[in-house]
Amino acid sequence: MNLTRTKTVEQSMRDTEEPGHKLRRSLSALDLTVFGVGVVIGTGIFVLTGEAAGVEAGPAVALSFVVAGIACALAAVCYAEFASTVPVAGSAYTFSYATLGEVFAWIIGWDLILELALGSATVASGWSTYFADVAKQAGITLPESIYSDGHNLVAAAIVLVLTGVICLGINVSAKVNAVIVTIKVGIVLLVIVAGLFFIKVSNYSPFIPPAGSQGAKSDPPDPSLLQDLGLSTGGPFGIAGIITAAALVFFAFIGFDVVATAAEETKNPQRDLPRGIFGSLAICTVLYVAVSLVITGMVKYDKISVEAPLAEAFRSVGKPTIATIISIGALAGLTTVMMILMIGQSRVFFAMARDRLLPPTFATVNERTGTPLRTTVTTGVVIAVMAALLPLEELAKLVNIGTLFAFIVVSIGVVILRRTQPDLERSFRVPMVPLVPILSVLASFYLMLNLTTVTWFRFFVWMAVGLVVYALYGYRHSRLRTDGADVDLRDREVAARSGNRR
Ligand code: ALA
Repeated sequence: MNLTRTKTVEQSMRDTEEPGHKLRRSLSALDLTVFGVGVVIGTGIFVLTGEAAGVEAGPAVALSFVVAGIACALAAVCYAEFASTVPVAGSAYTFSYATLGEVFAWIIGWDLILELALGSATVASGWSTYFADVAKQAGITLPESIYSDGHNLVAAAIVLVLTGVICLGINVSAKVNAVIVTIKVGIVLLVIVAGLFFIKVSNYSPFIPPAGSQGAKSDPPDPSLLQDLGLSTGGPFGIAGIITAAALVFFAFIGFDVVATAAEETKNPQRDLPRGIFGSLAICTVLYVAVSLVITGMVKYDKISVEAPLAEAFRSVGKPTIATIISIGALAGLTTVMMILMIGQSRVFFAMARDRLLPPTFATVNERTGTPLRTTVTTGVVIAVMAALLPLEELAKLVNIGTLFAFIVVSIGVVILRRTQPDLERSFRVPMVPLVPILSVLASFYLMLNLTTVTWFRFFVWMAVGLVVYALYGYRHSRLRTDGADVDLRDREVAARSGNRR
């Protein structure tokens, strides 16, 4: 039983050219950057800033954004090298197949469901709260029973509508995204510029509230794994609070890596993927730090709203109109986050089905739209059911742990691929290998340790279920296993031919 069989880079690239499984290439570097910003700015800044500042870090939440941003930047360089070397749909899943072997690829594919499917369901649930709020301001009161956690019909409905948009093709999605991103960035800039006039310097003091201070909620947050292990004494606030808040607001950065899943739909992936990844990450980090400084300057940290911090900050200074504009902007902004996470999820399933770790019917591409229609619809329905039925407030931190785990695997993969295939053409190279990938692993792992113990437990259960599914389906049907000999031979022929040409 060979669980470490890897799929060669050449083989992954060849799969992208197969008739009936070929995605249409139409995205540019600018499209990718806009995609990145579209998926990154969302619940994290519009909602989680409140809890992170009010309960965990105080005004020093700006530093939490910097810490999370550094961890993401380290992972981003690793993603950029991989994406420019193996520009194939599937992102971390595909990279792992090429380096660590099939069982790891499966684990990552399964893990990415946490980031992409659970992530979009979580954002859909946040969207439903904003929707009910905006409807209320327009004079329509929705019954709570249709948008509460565990029976959220509003969240399921928006997921299905977005599935319809995605089915129209990647170009339509890109255009819808571009319009909404403009609105969303406009709103964020409005918060920053308008908020500057209401900053009271006294609100910044203390900038790092001492450990154990009373925050914006009476219940203290659940302890992190590190605290439960007795390795960190910090509760909320203090330096330790900055780090636990960083693990929380990490959610705000999730998505820049999804740019890599669009590799097969990019015109010049080797050049444009790194640009799209870095561009979106840099823009979002600057905006986040600015927004968090403004909000904690407008409202004392222990008075900050944990549900809608940005809108409430403006209500508290007597500017309800700006608050309403922010709520509408948040609603629009969260839409693209969901849409792109769903596109990412369908591309990962597509790549897994093409390798037959999932049923091959999900690897067909619709000729008219050039997108994997069947996978898109199935993914949309599954996410709609998750958004409707799951207790997402409880499960949201699984999205962070799942994504951080993927970052770790990709960072390790870069070092492995440098050793196993040093001569492969890499249009972007991580500087100072292996130092930067090692720092990336350590930073992501440290953030993982700052998530709660119950999140770790759920994560292990999810991964164990994944291994059972692999044993029952993926292992038996894997294309590499069934066609393995044939494929190896073809690869050797390709290698020999390119060797002869040299
Ligand atoms: N980064 C995305 C958000 O904050 C997932 O909503």
